[in-house]
Amino acid sequence: MTSGATPLGLGVLASGRGSNLQAILDACARPGFPARVVVVISDRERAQALERARAAGVEARFINPKDFADREAFDLALVREFTARQVGLVCSAGFMRILSPVFVRAFAGRVVGVHPALLPAFPGLHAQRQALAYGVRVAGATVHFVDDGVDTGPIILQASVPVHPDDTEETLSARILLEEHRLYPDAIRLFAEGRLTIAGRKVLIR
Ligand code: GAR
Repeated sequence: MTSGATPLGLGVLASGRGSNLQAILDACARPGFPARVVVVISDRERAQALERARAAGVEARFINPKDFADREAFDLALVREFTARQVGLVCSAGFMRILSPVFVRAFAGRVVGVHPALLPAFPGLHAQRQALAYGVRVAGATVHFVDDGVDTGPIILQASVPVHPDDTEETLSARILLEEHRLYPDAIRLFAEGRLTIAGRKVLIR
């Protein structure tokens, strides 16, 4: 970011621990990082992610899915919250709900997510457990644009990690998580600097 330029406003969706949110908050605190988190929204009242947001002085909101008739109505409420705060990029960071087409359409090309596997391998829940059960020797992390499928959007960045014979779900998850925390801010920077173009399934990086 050149000095004086307005940083890109990020809206983060998180359901739990929020370690990826923390990596994003830490990156945003670095001088010259071209983005800042304007709001964190969770579908779980007790999500640690909300505490992390408050600790960083960022607005934290719980929106209860039970207050809405259906998935679309909840997602439209998210759209309203982000639009009201002029969010330029939505970051799904451990948000354990599939975003419906109404949300993805409203923020077309402006929603990114992180997944603990080398997509398209092992989408969905418990990716690390799936990788261990399959017997792969290499696992990893992916940051991707979000579409209305499950972890199916165009891939921005990936990093691999080895799988060791004595790995458990916990040890492998921890190794992958380090890469998630590195990749996610890198991808946000690329987006904020206008260096990403989606061309079909591919993301071109300038
Ligand atoms: C992360 O490992 C993220 O990749 C995964 O949930 C975890 C959230 O951790 N997301 C998915 O599996 C999405 N399909 P965090 O709350 O500490 O960031």
